[in-house]
Amino acid sequence: MFFTKKKQEKQTWNLAKGIGRIAIPDGAEVKKQLEMIGLTTDDLDVIHALQPFINEKLDMIVNQYYWSLEQEQSLVNIIHDHSSIDRLKSTMKQHLLEMFSGVIDEEFIEKRKRIAFIHVKIGLPTKWYMAAFQNLLLSIISILVEQLPNKDNCHSAIIAVTKILNFEQQLVLE
Ligand code: HEM
Repeated sequence: MFFTKKKQEKQTWNLAKGIGRIAIPDGAEVKKQLEMIGLTTDDLDVIHALQPFINEKLDMIVNQYYWSLEQEQSLVNIIHDHSSIDRLKSTMKQHLLEMFSGVIDEEFIEKRKRIAFIHVKIGLPTKWYMAAFQNLLLSIISILVEQLPNKDNCHSAIIAVTKILNFEQQLVLE
């Protein structure tokens, strides 16, 4: 299966099977959460294959993301009280790349628990966290639509991305 980037970027990308990995013990509740949304290792293969596409557009995604946060003064205040836009931009870039590693293991779960703890500590209302996620999703979808001219590939990519973002929200908002 090939995901082919637009001609002008002169890249063709092979989707490698068997890279995606779910390393969660059987019987763990998170495993059932994955099953409920149908997030499989095939989806994680796709997620991993998308990582270079995300990497190439990281600045655009993150700039758009923070531009939208800046429209809400209460969020700007939270950021200035606890961090800075520049620091969070670099945190978010790192986080996005990790999100597209194609691996879900204990470390992945623990990191989301820490993110949840931090956002509770800074008093971030859930509605703004959800809104921020939607913004990320829309940016990523527009990149995929632009970069993946093959309809089936683009469809698989969007499905896989919505699953991984949904899973992350399940973990953070629990
Ligand atoms: C910290 C991700 C939404 C404000 C973080 C960290 C991550 C992260 C990965 C670093 C956690 C760590 O150090 O281990 C996300 C994601 C979001 C989101 C994926 C939704 C898409 C927001 C929103 C705000 C926000 C809407 C608005 C105020 C902060 C602040 C910190 C932080 C201020 C730093 C806290 C500190 O260093 O004490 N976020 N975040 N986040 N986030 Fe978010």
